[in-house]
Amino acid sequence: MHPLLLLFTANVALGVTLDTEGLPDTGLDTSGWTKGALPPLADMFDLNDMQLAAKNVLPAKYYASYRTGALNEYTYRANLEVYAKVRLNGFSFRDVSNVSTSALLGQQSWATPFRSRSSSRRPRRQVTRTRPPKRPSRAAAGSAGILYVPSISSTLPIEAIAAAGRAGQVMFHQMYVWANHSRVVDELARIEAAGFKALFVTVDNTGIAGVRTRSMRYTPGSDTGHAANFDLHALAAFRNLTTLPIVPKGIKTWQDARTCLRLGFRAVYVSNHGGRVLDGAPTAVEVLVDIQKHAPEVFAGMEVYADGGVRRGTDALILLALGARAVGLGRPPMFANVWGEAGVSRMAALLARELGTSMQLMGVRDVRELNGSYVNTNAVGY
Ligand SMILES: *[C@@H]1O[C@H](CO)[C@@H](O)[C@H](O)[C@H]1NC(C)=O
Ligand SMILES: *[C@@H]1O[C@H](CO)[C@@H](O)[C@H](O)[C@H]1NC(C)=O
Ligand SMILES: *[C@@H]1O[C@H](CO)[C@@H](O)[C@H](O)[C@H]1NC(C)=O
Ligand SMILES: *[C@@H]1O[C@H](CO)[C@@H](O)[C@H](O)[C@H]1NC(C)=O
Repeated sequence: MHPLLLLFTANVALGVTLDTEGLPDTGLDTSGWTKGALPPLADMFDLNDMQLAAKNVLPAKYYASYRTGALNEYTYRANLEVYAKVRLNGFSFRDVSNVSTSALLGQQSWATPFRSRSSSRRPRRQVTRTRPPKRPSRAAAGSAGILYVPSISSTLPIEAIAAAGRAGQVMFHQMYVWANHSRVVDELARIEAAGFKALFVTVDNTGIAGVRTRSMRYTPGSDTGHAANFDLHALAAFRNLTTLPIVPKGIKTWQDARTCLRLGFRAVYVSNHGGRVLDGAPTAVEVLVDIQKHAPEVFAGMEVYADGGVRRGTDALILLALGARAVGLGRPPMFANVWGEAGVSRMAALLARELGTSMQLMGVRDVRELNGSYVNTNAVGY
């Protein structure tokens, strides 16, 4: 009788024990969670909480496809860890009674300088089944003042995404350079017709995806269909196909940033694709520091956007201080989307609060004031 009782007690007390993947321990208690069930959104206090909740609720295969990175995931982890090497300079003797986190991106104004990306095909389908969002996260992004940039691999067609946002919401669209030229022409026409205002053209997957062991265990890699011959001549030909502004996304070196400036691009997007492509690629912090060192004219001549491992308002603040005009989020909105629109809205509110609080503590009234004087990157040593 006693052993049975013990067994019973042990079962009840177990709750859910998750591998927290080395994420910062901020006291999240998963003992009341049920495996496969969504914890209350109100119990989520930061973006790491949301990732662990998504891990608890999504089937392992789908979680792996969001979470995966290339090879040893050195770059995936460096993206998260590099922010710990940056020190923030906070100044006293300033009036910070009215702090504004709104940012200017191009001609448009956003409540917060973040942009989010929609999920890719298979995981989105699963998330939808787990807890169908009433509208795609574009609407949530719109209400939160976040620029939403759907991926061309979204489950929803270009036109449906365009129709789902708030009136007047500005949106950019992500695109790949397909080996199939008709597909490029066809998608460009649809993106233009749907009213998107700019294109983020992914240029870091040069015809092939990275080798992602974590997701290969569930899904064999397949041909991406991306062009492997996208050289400067092909880039020039691509630019002739559309009147929309093009933002090359996936810039990993100061040399490519300078090349884009010389070619007359209005913006570039520094990104290592969440560590999913070239393992060993530098983080956005390192690339921005490198551009400052070798080609500072890039920041005066173009808008620079950046992403990689942003989980806290302070991470965004660091990228902005290093010269980024807007900061991207990839995995966090996908994880938050397990609660649908409410999850994405809460994610945005949590980030905006962290950003606003840190700005006030640093004596910064407006994100546009952020510059290199607010950060010390000596320990980055890049
Ligand atoms: C805060 O600043 C904004 C923009 O600069 C301004 O519109 C608003 O009136 C200010 N609020 C207060 C309470 O000063
Ligand atoms: C190329 O793209 C066009 C337009 O999207 C499509 O109709 C066609 O089937 C594609 N060709 C191949 C070989 O995939
Ligand atoms: C792009 O268009 C310009 C102007 O019409 C033309 O001079 C140039 O040769 C084109 N470039 C390519 C690569 O098609
Ligand atoms: C950075 O911002 C500070 C505080 O607003 C300002 O005093 C300084 O001149 C700025 N530095 C540069 C290089 O713009």
